[in-house]
Amino acid sequence: MLVPSSSRQLGPGTAKVDAPVGVGHDWAVTTIDDITIEPPGIGELFDPRRAFPDGRPIELEIGCGKGGFLLRRARECSDRGFIGLEWANKFFKYAADRMARWGVNNVRIMRADAHHMFIHQMTPGCLAALHVYHPDPWPKKRHHKRRLISEQFVEHAVAALQSGARWAIQTDHAEYYEWIRERVDPRAELTEIAYDDPGFGIVDEEAGTNFEIKYLREGRPIYRVAYRRI
Ligand SMILES: C[S@@+](CC[C@H](N)C(=O)[O-])C[C@H]1O[C@@H](n2cnc3c(N)ncnc32)[C@H](O)[C@@H]1O
Repeated sequence: MLVPSSSRQLGPGTAKVDAPVGVGHDWAVTTIDDITIEPPGIGELFDPRRAFPDGRPIELEIGCGKGGFLLRRARECSDRGFIGLEWANKFFKYAADRMARWGVNNVRIMRADAHHMFIHQMTPGCLAALHVYHPDPWPKKRHHKRRLISEQFVEHAVAALQSGARWAIQTDHAEYYEWIRERVDPRAELTEIAYDDPGFGIVDEEAGTNFEIKYLREGRPIYRVAYRRI
């Protein structure tokens, strides 16, 4: 059973929360060095399949934060590989430490700007699923250019999906949701599908990310959409 994440604040790289109950330190066979991967060098492409060379399907989460969703998915699906991209160093370290303490060996966390990575360095056709949960909404108009979802990003995200791959997006920000739909819906390579999909970790419309759990408790509406690459 997954132990709920603590809300305790952590120093960089020193996360020591939600260790598995009843398990001692010798349990952790995976180290942070096993979990973290380096971003590609300038001019190099990132192919996440290289992190799992046995050909397993790869799911990638952008902005994995504290890693709650990835941890649950990785524990449920030991036959798939999971990549978390996280820009904030604090959360990158937190998530990597969390995976190491749970001993999951099918997750890799990379500190990277996903917007730049997808547009300039992502290998086409490499993903079985793309998860984007509560991307920063940047609500002020003058900050819209900082949003993850841009026309250019969408073009490259679609290209990164294999045929049949799933792309799930959710946000608590109504205006950003409309913005996203305006940019993603017109893509001819995608078809909208049911959001619920236990095969991709979504049950009762809940992905179970840290932000989702917090916002549901506060009674905020959450806007969700999922697509399949044709
Ligand atoms: C609002 S939080 C949501 C975290 C998590 N997905 C959840 O639902 O609990 C957004 C996360 O995306 C990360 N982030 C924002 N822009 C990013 C980017 N360009 N590349 C990678 N991560 C990014 C932030 O550091 C933050 O951890």
